Amino acid sequence: MIDMHCHIVPYTDDGAKDTQTSIEMGRKAESLGYKSILATSHYIVHDNELVNREFVSNIDKLNELYEIEKIDLKVYPANEVFFTNDIVELIQNKKVCTLANSRYVLIELPLFNKIIPMNVYDEFNKLQDAGYIPVLAHPERYDFVTENIETLVTLIESGVLLQANIASISGKYGSQAKKNLKKMLKRNMVHFLGTDSHTTSVYEIYEKCMKKIKKLVNDEERFEKILIENPNHVVNDEKIDIWYPKYK
Ligand SMILES: [Fe+2]
Repeated sequence: MIDMHCHIVPYTDDGAKDTQTSIEMGRKAESLGYKSILATSHYIVHDNELVNREFVSNIDKLNELYEIEKIDLKVYPANEVFFTNDIVELIQNKKVCTLANSRYVLIELPLFNKIIPMNVYDEFNKLQDAGYIPVLAHPERYDFVTENIETLVTLIESGVLLQANIASISGKYGSQAKKNLKKMLKRNMVHFLGTDSHTTSVYEIYEKCMKKIKKLVNDEERFEKILIENPNHVVNDEKIDIWYPKYK
């Protein structure tokens, strides 16, 4: 199993605060069956601008640390890129990492916009024209999804993939995110799951959440795709067949 969204690199963003936390997070992830982690540290223009080369060397150090600690996990470079207008340039200038250096890019949007910012479509088109595939981080948390979940149908139909946070189903991010995720799972609108762990807390409720998610997906084959096959395609930089949402 691969965690598609995790802030596990120490001293990098608001995730793991030190190496001990990274070790504890790694041990928990391993015990739950994870073999790989995409280290999606925040990249925020003018705020948390990771210099790519330094960031990648931190990941090398973390992999070495896990080897020493006998934690059987492979960590891949990635970023959670906060939406901006020049993502293609940021990738090409090696300021941000795509997911495991693949064609897939994890992008976060502002949480509190009632309507999706119109330049999102333009930026996503630019990414696709340059050969990249946008993956939207935790759509269930956005106000524009609460206002109109059909916006996600438009995004999926334009080739955007969606990554939901496992703990959203517990109410960790509020009752509305929980409701949105339920709808998304029932309507076949989730392509990946991630823990979005910043500490070890999500791992404590992980199994309970996964049980609920599996029940809502209600399709063994699709659940397997979300959990195993799609993340494998990302790490191997392979094409993912898009499935379309159910119309209720
Ligand atoms: Fe995140």
